Amino acid sequence: MEKKQLYIQTFGCQMNVQDSEKMAALLQDSGYEATDDPKRADLILVNTCSIREKAAQKIYSQLGRFRALKEQNPHLLIGVGGCLAQQQGNRLFRRAPYLDLVFGTHQIHRLPELIEAREQTGGRIAETGFYERVCSLDIPALPPAGTISTFVTIMQGCNNFCAYCVVPHVRGREESRPLPEIVREVENLAARGIRQVTLLGQNVNSYGKTLGDGPDFADLVHALGKVAGIERIRFTTSHPKDLSTKLIDCFGKVASLCEHIHLPVQAGSDRVLKRMNRGYTAETYREKVAALHRACPGISVTSDVIVGFPGEEEDDFQATLALMREIRFDNLFSFQYSEREGTAAVGMDGTVCDSVKCERLRILQDLQEEHTLAKNRACVGRVERVLVEGPSKNGREDMTGRTRGNRIVNFPGERELVGKTVSVLITEAFLHSLRGEMEEKEREDVH
Ligand code: 5AD
Ligand code: SF4
Repeated sequence: MEKKQLYIQTFGCQMNVQDSEKMAALLQDSGYEATDDPKRADLILVNTCSIREKAAQKIYSQLGRFRALKEQNPHLLIGVGGCLAQQQGNRLFRRAPYLDLVFGTHQIHRLPELIEAREQTGGRIAETGFYERVCSLDIPALPPAGTISTFVTIMQGCNNFCAYCVVPHVRGREESRPLPEIVREVENLAARGIRQVTLLGQNVNSYGKTLGDGPDFADLVHALGKVAGIERIRFTTSHPKDLSTKLIDCFGKVASLCEHIHLPVQAGSDRVLKRMNRGYTAETYREKVAALHRACPGISVTSDVIVGFPGEEEDDFQATLALMREIRFDNLFSFQYSEREGTAAVGMDGTVCDSVKCERLRILQDLQEEHTLAKNRACVGRVERVLVEGPSKNGREDMTGRTRGNRIVNFPGERELVGKTVSVLITEAFLHSLRGEMEEKEREDVH
């Protein structure tokens, strides 16, 4: 029988990318195959994000474009899943009455059944209930053949309720997968040629809290450090308050654990951190970063910052800049605060106006550019171990890969290098990447 065509568009974070792969894997069994052309699709799924207002706006305009396809092909089904679907539920039908299905973040495993119900009953469906267990957590998201680096979801949800954040509201409570199951999945990935895994969760280092007296995140890292063939382990995202000494020590002890941590600080002012409900002070954050450098000299530390959280005064903002100057992050993702429905920050006093938010963001990003560039320039003249991911998109005949510290490196090389780790002498530094030459000795070894 001819297969039905499935087009999935994913917005937002890596967790959504994983979920989309799971959806594709599930629907394969219901006779669907993936297409990259929405015009050929029998089913379009839009996997959405609602972390910031901008993300939501982009999704609404994309849905409008899919509506035009439905007008041309009345048999086309359109489903919307992910965080925005969870938050809006059947309210999405008011804004987009042409949708067939709205499914929440805990409903992924039910997709085949929900699509069938829509086809048989003809009625629109919105399912956004939460389950005690996220049933899709165990569905393996199989990476395409030839992939050398992939993500493995180890936990989902969040119990922290940071005042600005919609995640606990749209992803539900924290839940960790059992350790042996994760080890088995990573062993299978290694057998399929995967060299690097990034452990994924909204708050990876609180892994294990829902497993009773069982293993914690550091135990998981140690266990995965023993999986043969996995050369590099990374993880994202971690919370400063759950960064234990035991985990910090892993950086010196587990050979495959890369020397990089993404540790969102969000703000450098204690007053703002308290209002954000982050559970740490700027001082404890500084101490933890210092401990990381002691355990692992030269570790890359990257972070997230929000500007313009309600009540952020000029001196609070200056405290954030001071913390940045002190720590000198290797990279930083920065955002203007945007109010999210249902979060504790809604209605807080001290709204910061858009022009101030915009100006603060510009100042902060200029400072970070200086730091990123200086840090990248300091790599020039060093030899870095680079895991080669594929051809570079820089227009030259380059290959691209990453250092253990997570910097992108482009260098002249051949396709056979994909999946190999090679030594590259860094010769040039830019804001977003490095450029270099593979070491001569290495060339001889590879050929
Ligand atoms: N407004 C702005 N930025 C936000 N983030 C999360 N929620 C919001 C919000 N309401 C940022 C945080 C988080 C990153 C993934 O997105 O910095 O670490
Ligand atoms: Fe959101 Fe805070 Fe949970 Fe991260 S830790 S997902 S910022 S509530």
